[in-house]
Amino acid sequence: MPAPHITDASLKTFTLRLGDKHPPIPLGSADRTINDPEAVKRRFAGTIDYLARVELEVDRNVLELLTLLPNVSEVDRIFYQDVWYDQEMAHGYLLDQLQVDLGMEPADPFMTVPLRMKLLGALAHWEPIHDISRMLYYLTGASTERQAVVVYSILIRELKLMGEDAIAETIIHPIKQQEPGHYTFYKMSAEKMMQDADMKPWQLFVTRLLRSQTFTLVGVDYVKKYQQDLGGVLTELGMDLEMEVYAKEIGRLEAKLLWAKDKGMDFPPYFLESLRESVDMYRGQGNFDAPVNNRFMI
Ligand SMILES: [Fe+2]
Ligand SMILES: [Fe+2]
Repeated sequence: MPAPHITDASLKTFTLRLGDKHPPIPLGSADRTINDPEAVKRRFAGTIDYLARVELEVDRNVLELLTLLPNVSEVDRIFYQDVWYDQEMAHGYLLDQLQVDLGMEPADPFMTVPLRMKLLGALAHWEPIHDISRMLYYLTGASTERQAVVVYSILIRELKLMGEDAIAETIIHPIKQQEPGHYTFYKMSAEKMMQDADMKPWQLFVTRLLRSQTFTLVGVDYVKKYQQDLGGVLTELGMDLEMEVYAKEIGRLEAKLLWAKDKGMDFPPYFLESLRESVDMYRGQGNFDAPVNNRFMI
């Protein structure tokens, strides 16, 4: 069956419905009962801290978005302003509260917009670069949201196995339920650009090049400490043992959209490379003197 045709109107309707269906989760709705806080901390302190920080960084994400997309579209604005921002902030508050309940320090969000983004943003005043920038924004969004779904799913499963049903069901599960809608928004937006042939071959070439050379996993943002911390998250959740499975899970859409000519590619290679680098850094095998992404920095 052919994929349904995506129009501006259908994307807008989807986005508005997403906001109606998923209001921000109230902080007071969480059942904060933790049977064994020490055990939860021992196993998942790094994961909860990482997730809280990333969720609370939405202010910077909006700044990045406005930098990268000076001519942001109406639907993009509705999504980040009326739907995504408040939902993600609520996720951050819930996880931050959980950290404090566990006796940990509150999260310390990273608020700097990297120079490379400012440069791309400056170039994006030229329409063809703006399209590339938009595509990069959607691809980054889709892979980030997909990573969130996978991570939260494993965390819920593991917390339940530990008997921590209250926090699994009233904190992590409601957060997890809001992430697939974000993923779908980015996916539909990227698919629409491809379907409408918004991108010329040279623009797709540049997009592929930039993605290959500057890809980072969720919350890393070219900070080596975060890349190492993410290796810790992958290890705490046991994902370091099945990195190919995870790479396929989070990279499948991008393989299909951007690398369709490379038949049989389950995921772009930079997904697995980034996962491996993170885990190696966490295990102390990485080269800390090299930049986080030493292939091509802009
Ligand atoms: Fe979130
Ligand atoms: Fe999200």
